[in-house]
Amino acid sequence: MTADIGVCGLGVMGRNLSLNITDQGFRLVGYERSPDLRETARAMGLDTHGEIGEFIRDLRRPRAILLMVTAGQPVDQIIAALLPHLHAGDVIADGGNSVYCDTRRRLAMLNENSIELIGLGVSGGKNGARHGPSLMAGGNETAYSRFSPIFTAIAARANDQMPCVEHLSTAAPVGHFVKMMHNGIEYADMQMIAEIYDFCRKVLGLTATQIADMFQTWNEGPLGSFLIQTTALVLSRKDDLTGAALVDMVLDSAGQKGTGRWAAITAAKLAVAAPSITESVTARIVSSLHSQRQRAATIFKSQRTKPQSIDQELFPDALLAGKICAYAQGFAVLSAASQHYDWGLNLANIAKVWRAGCIIQADFLDEVKNAFRDAPVLDNLMLAPAFVESLRRTVPALREVISASVHASVSVPALSASLAYFDAYTSRHSPANLIQAQRDSFGAHGYRRIDRDGKFHSDWR
Ligand code: 6PG
Repeated sequence: MTADIGVCGLGVMGRNLSLNITDQGFRLVGYERSPDLRETARAMGLDTHGEIGEFIRDLRRPRAILLMVTAGQPVDQIIAALLPHLHAGDVIADGGNSVYCDTRRRLAMLNENSIELIGLGVSGGKNGARHGPSLMAGGNETAYSRFSPIFTAIAARANDQMPCVEHLSTAAPVGHFVKMMHNGIEYADMQMIAEIYDFCRKVLGLTATQIADMFQTWNEGPLGSFLIQTTALVLSRKDDLTGAALVDMVLDSAGQKGTGRWAAITAAKLAVAAPSITESVTARIVSSLHSQRQRAATIFKSQRTKPQSIDQELFPDALLAGKICAYAQGFAVLSAASQHYDWGLNLANIAKVWRAGCIIQADFLDEVKNAFRDAPVLDNLMLAPAFVESLRRTVPALREVISASVHASVSVPALSASLAYFDAYTSRHSPANLIQAQRDSFGAHGYRRIDRDGKFHSDWR
């Protein structure tokens, strides 16, 4: 009974996180069902069991067990396997991309057995897990304290050396909800970058290497981020087999594991507009209709309009404007969820843990953190003084880039959604008066007037 923490699941994320934990001086014991993965973990020096009873016996009580298994049924299966061995006061943290509703269900079940559950969003992929992830935790305070020294030691450090880990709420589902929204924003960031890349290839005829250089330059400015840097890196990689740019050899059909889609669905359920996130999910879905697209491209070839050129200086501003709008949507969902579920989320703290370690880490998140710190009840991130100024400067570029893309038949759904969101949100008059009139005319749903209180219904014939 010596280990400080047990880790179940020693796949890529589990074993890298485990190595990070042992590097920090904590005693760790692992459990892994697959003999191959067990061997790999042992070869890396991780004390690993294939039998759950032995794993449990090696843990100091009350036990702290971190699950690093695939989200979904495997989480239920491992919890069911652990439960007969656990005692009151033991704590499980689920570090996978579980749907937050599953976390709520599991918490209730575990609490009936006097076991606590921490919902833990872990971001940063393999490298992050190994050298410093961003960690988003939710759950009972005492239960969290079992893990907090470990999480604090292994988390990434932001520029100000603050660890990128927060106990965001006493509600366990929060960890996974915040991670889900991180991924929704990740989808939007990636899609908008891909749209600019697409324009550069199709309209400007730039090579992958030339575009890589552009992204590398932008990484030095306000767009500086892991995803911009990764894009530059990916675009400069040559294919070992053909010598071509490797990105040109990759099939243009995007996969997705579900977190971005849940973010879009959750936004809709909470009645929060998150069009940039939703369109990014849609773009992945359309991209995956690969063979249908080949046929359609032939049929509609003649419909393509003549490509237009554009000042390349506009791209980084267009991306920044799109990014601000997408983040505003993501944080609006977080704010609505906080109210709906009474989670008391501190949005500045969420921006704070995303500053390093995670996939959307960016210099920009320092400004987001400051915006929510200075005005904790901000209706929308776009209204924070720093972002008002940025948007005033960058939205014209976004408009130009979208306009040129539309004329050149380059699909820019996420950038367009960001601009449409901005235009709608900043419109004094929307056409919803007509929507209300239509609703009242065919369904007698009633409407409100601009000149007097009350609800009205008219005979529109
Ligand atoms: C992270 C990532 C990660 C996610 C992958 C793949 O924060 O480390 O968000 O959790 O699983 O990026 O996601 P998709 O397969 O949905 O693109």
